[in-house]
Amino acid sequence: MGPHAASRPLTLSEQADELEEKMMNELNDKIATKSALFNLADGNFDYIGGAELQARHPGKHFLMGADPRLPKMSEKPTLTDFFKHRFVSMNHLLQSATLALKAGHEEKVVLACLLHDVAVAGFIRCDHGYWGAQLIEPYVDEEVSWAVRVHQALRFFPDESAGYKYPDMYLKYFGPDYKPEPYIVEEYKRARCHKYYMTARLICVNDIYAFDPDAKVSLDDFVDIIGRNFKQPKEGLGFDNTPSSHMWRTLMWPTRFL
Ligand SMILES: [Fe+2]
Ligand SMILES: [Fe+2]
Repeated sequence: MGPHAASRPLTLSEQADELEEKMMNELNDKIATKSALFNLADGNFDYIGGAELQARHPGKHFLMGADPRLPKMSEKPTLTDFFKHRFVSMNHLLQSATLALKAGHEEKVVLACLLHDVAVAGFIRCDHGYWGAQLIEPYVDEEVSWAVRVHQALRFFPDESAGYKYPDMYLKYFGPDYKPEPYIVEEYKRARCHKYYMTARLICVNDIYAFDPDAKVSLDDFVDIIGRNFKQPKEGLGFDNTPSSHMWRTLMWPTRFL
């Protein structure tokens, strides 16, 4: 215990030092870095270069692999591993897919519902339909990734004949005056006359009712559907040299220096 401990509370800079020390211990004495995007998300437009950062931690090296603060991933990670160890919440995805399953939809639709918000669960929120589609594209039928991509736009446009009205939740979240941007309107117009329109629409239909914190759902119910419809690479997601392998690696190692 330091000499100050009994007599007075820690000053702000002492607290910062303690936090820093705790973090370095958790990191096995490696320096973890935050991508520009993570800092921008904190409203932080600063950049600290590698040399300066290392000078603040004399004798230490940068983290160039797994972040020990995060759950351990296997050597050849599967989609299920990502669900369990990288997606910060799977309840919404499981509830959507469960609803689609109970409604008797075909497996492609169930899989699309299961994967529609993977970007929100594990990657980036803004334009999540596009990011999610890009992540899964090499591994699923084009109908599934197309639907995931386009649900981004379709969500904002009702189709009462398909059983989808503009969500009350969106009125609450975005206010009554919110208007989707022109690129979303254009995406919607293109999607309306696409052969897979109804698959993307079914994501929306099974989506809006899927926010029950008490619902009992399990990934186990979807293992077979994933097995039949998601082409799990034998090398593991991230190591299979597809156009989205690097995205899975980034999700696995979000604090790697380079
Ligand atoms: Fe979504
Ligand atoms: Fe959703």
